[in-house]
Amino acid sequence: MIQKDSTYVVMGLLDSDSIAYAAGKSIQQAGGKVIFTVQNERMKRIFFDRSDKLSPEEKSALNIEFCEVTSEREVRELFGRLGPIAGVVHSIAYANPKTCLGEEIYTDAIEDIKLAYHISCVSLATIAHYAQPNMKDGGSIVALSFESQKAFPYYNWMGVNKAALEALVRGLARRYGRDLVRINAVSAGPLSTKAAKSIPHFAHLARIWKKVSPIPWDVVNDKIEVAHAVLFLLGIYSKKITGQVLYVDGGASVMGGDLLPYERIPGLDEVAHEHGINLEP
Ligand SMILES: NC(=O)c1ccc[n+]([C@@H]2O[C@H](COP(=O)([O-])OP(=O)(O)OC[C@H]3O[C@@H](n4cnc5c(N)ncnc54)[C@H](O)[C@@H]3O)[C@@H](O)[C@H]2O)c1
Repeated sequence: MIQKDSTYVVMGLLDSDSIAYAAGKSIQQAGGKVIFTVQNERMKRIFFDRSDKLSPEEKSALNIEFCEVTSEREVRELFGRLGPIAGVVHSIAYANPKTCLGEEIYTDAIEDIKLAYHISCVSLATIAHYAQPNMKDGGSIVALSFESQKAFPYYNWMGVNKAALEALVRGLARRYGRDLVRINAVSAGPLSTKAAKSIPHFAHLARIWKKVSPIPWDVVNDKIEVAHAVLFLLGIYSKKITGQVLYVDGGASVMGGDLLPYERIPGLDEVAHEHGINLEP
């Protein structure tokens, strides 16, 4: 599915629950090589401390680079020291939960709003700019999004950033077509990760999915399904797909209203419960 033995840069590793980790593992299982990036040295320590599911051998086998994506210099230097690559996964987002998420749409924390935009959206363009020379024969860049056609409670400025990210995906697809670099996004349903847990009332989003998703959505284990879609967009079976948002959300984004009881498969509440997410209304 992907170019075997080719190298892919997967950006946005925090712990073994990160979508980046699932994406990197899928690439490796398909025969690709993976260079992960973490934000900085401190985040790498956090990764090693938190990832108790990984054996010491698994940890030491990981190829990890640092990259703070708001630093043009760090992005330039990262791709400057890497050789040829076949693709990049942008699995990065941040918004201060106190000012950018929550019950109000705050406008008095403009620096926080700008930082969230820089990290969650603009960085994709920075990365495309500096990664393109490493993809001389073309390549594929995949970003992670979340349903931006609808307004969800608490998601506020991050929802705006995801809409902007998807618009940027289209703009970059236009710009990098002449370099044979494709740019797409995967719009994932809610998944239990560190970033998700910082969204106030994340469990409420999970409950929405439980009510509307025709294919039951598992907030813990469906990371792997998201990773498979990333793999598809990185690989050779999607060569004419660019500028698109591929929804991997159990179908929730296209349903009109809640599923009626007869439409539902008995859920995955127990798995979610084990991970501290209460799906009961
Ligand atoms: N978890 C979900 O429910 C969900 C759903 C749809 C889309 N997404 C998107 O998936 C992507 C990955 O998120 P995740 O859920 O795996 O959470 P995560 O917390 O594991 O990953 C977010 C990553 O962004 C990195 N990051 C933040 N600021 C950075 C900066 N300035 N420089 C470099 N890296 C920085 C963090 O260090 C972290 O590694 C994000 O774009 C997120 O919006 C998540």
